[in-house]
Amino acid sequence: MAKIRKATSVGDWLDQRLATETIKKVMATEYWIPKNINFLWAMGMVLAVLFLLLVISGIFLLMYYKPDTALAFDSVNYTIMAEVGYGWLWRHIHAVGSSVAFLIIYIHMFTAIYYGSYKNGREMIWISGMVLFILFSTAAFSGYMLPWGQMSYWAGMVITNLFSAGSLELHGVVEWIRGDYVPGDAFLTRFFMIHVLLIPLVIMGAIGLHFGALRIPHVNNQDGEEIDFDTESAKYLAGDTKGSKVMRFQFDFLSKDIFVLGVFLVFFFYLVFYNFTFALDPVNLDPANGLKTPPHIYPEWYFLWSYEILRPFSKDAGLIAFGFAQVILVFLPFLDRSPNVAPANRRGLFAIWFWVLLIDMITLTIMGKLPPEGIFNVIGAAATWTFLGLWVVLPIITMLEKKK
Ligand code: HEM
Repeated sequence: MAKIRKATSVGDWLDQRLATETIKKVMATEYWIPKNINFLWAMGMVLAVLFLLLVISGIFLLMYYKPDTALAFDSVNYTIMAEVGYGWLWRHIHAVGSSVAFLIIYIHMFTAIYYGSYKNGREMIWISGMVLFILFSTAAFSGYMLPWGQMSYWAGMVITNLFSAGSLELHGVVEWIRGDYVPGDAFLTRFFMIHVLLIPLVIMGAIGLHFGALRIPHVNNQDGEEIDFDTESAKYLAGDTKGSKVMRFQFDFLSKDIFVLGVFLVFFFYLVFYNFTFALDPVNLDPANGLKTPPHIYPEWYFLWSYEILRPFSKDAGLIAFGFAQVILVFLPFLDRSPNVAPANRRGLFAIWFWVLLIDMITLTIMGKLPPEGIFNVIGAAATWTFLGLWVVLPIITMLEKKK
């Protein structure tokens, strides 16, 4: 056992038992961050804070929510929204938070794609990021079921129907997932459990993995420069803080992060107080009714691009294209065959690939919201084929890319 001496302070007492000084060094004061990064590198921290806000607001909602098909709708729309003091505030924070989290996730992902932060040792950061994306999507979908409104019910119906796997007609699987022939009480309670317990727990583990995966390769930088972190941190510790290419996480980088976070929170609370309706679908203000199908069933905005990919095809081909869209992003580090880590604008054809992907996903999102008719069908199909084609050409154009 280690030799314990008389402590000189509470900090020292804890350090002798928990190695708090070492933890602080490794996680904060000697966790080195490149200097040449911009505000987009604060999005990870914004996401961590958003997750915390979702957990806190979720705990307050949980105090009054009733996971029962006879009571759920009123517990949300009447008890929480009208009866409980500030219940509406927690609900707005939760609904706006989940929607904005996806906006930030997409910005965070596209930043990583633009700067090539997913390769040369950073593959696990990307893969754990994609795991987080899938987990957040599951959390959003399961949470959407809980108010038990018309959109909850019918979106639940449509998405669980996908598990019948088209012509394979695996209706048994769909019933197994629902616990019934149609979404009902068993369906609601299992999605409740998934939403409030299982997924948040797994997300916490996945965030730990994501942060851990950043440790060895360190974060990338705006120039894709390969920094020697040992030499540069030694320079910093020797007093040459100006000449060193790195800074400490605490408080150098943290102060930048907190500034960006502050600006973000002003925007966020502006939405929570004055512009929250985009996050609360009016169709969901009608209680679930299995006998009345809404004329147009659509998912929340952040799922629209992949939903649109389902639409131009017949049943089976649509499912295959949809499945492809769900998983292909995970393989990005291996489909990009170029060893160059650099911003897209210095990577020739990859720059075109990047902007086409971004514009294409925005187009798919817009088309997913519009009714599938006339010109919208044509644009939607063109955008879908472009999306699929982009992944075929990626290995070819990156193989042709000249080495830096
Ligand atoms: C949803 C919860 C997420 C949290 C809390 C989170 C958090 C973070 C943090 C704190 C960083 C370091 C600083 C920064 O670059 O912002 C980071 C980096 C990174 N994240 Fe995430 N992230 C999340 C989701 C994702 C997703 C969905 C992806 C994409 C698949 C992703 C991919 C990456 C990559 C590639 C980096 C390295 C960036 C670099 O080296 O420059 N993350 N993340």
